[in-house]
Amino acid sequence: MTSEPAAAQPGPELLATAEELAAVVAGLGDRISARYPDGVVVIGVLKGSVIFLADLVRHLRVPAVIDFLAVTPYLAGSGRIRLVKDLDVDIGGRDVVLVEDIVDTGLTVSWLLAELSRRGPASLAVAAMVDKAARRLVPVPVDFVGISVPDVFVIGSGLDFAGRYRNVEGLFGADPVALAADPDVHVADLYDR
Ligand code: IMP
Repeated sequence: MTSEPAAAQPGPELLATAEELAAVVAGLGDRISARYPDGVVVIGVLKGSVIFLADLVRHLRVPAVIDFLAVTPYLAGSGRIRLVKDLDVDIGGRDVVLVEDIVDTGLTVSWLLAELSRRGPASLAVAAMVDKAARRLVPVPVDFVGISVPDVFVIGSGLDFAGRYRNVEGLFGADPVALAADPDVHVADLYDR
């Protein structure tokens, strides 16, 4: 009896090259610089936003204070998000841009906007490298959108699966079922060896 060959895994699908993403981020830097001529506080949500934020702030032509926070991931059913690392700076009276890797259901950003608004910023806006609007469960204003994608699981440029792939350049759509079965399934595809 011969066994069936294993079905080939579909490779990750390129959504944006590093060059395309760089052009988009430069454009966002221009828009944010124009909106905040007196400077801005840029808040990154750890860890996924780190690469986007580092690229974005280098395109700002206005003074920028950079800070970070971290939250527990929203777990379906628990209904709870918690700050696990708070800001060091006081954002009272400041213009603030919250920088996210991706807005998916919107639950995290919505919670963060409520939390940060309580601190009395002069203004509060959201910049997201990736917007996955098809998955939104709560409406959230995303003022500065990098790339809009359909309902796909995205890896690369800060976005991970189980801690992998954050340092892959560009953005790729991947199969979350294949990743769940083997988190390293795309390592050979996405890294030079
Ligand atoms: P939310 O569903 O909008 O609350 O998204 C919360 C977080 O889930 C994001 O900040 C990401 O860290 C993570 N996430 C959502 N969609 C993806 C994805 O396609 N790839 C990797 N991480 C994701």
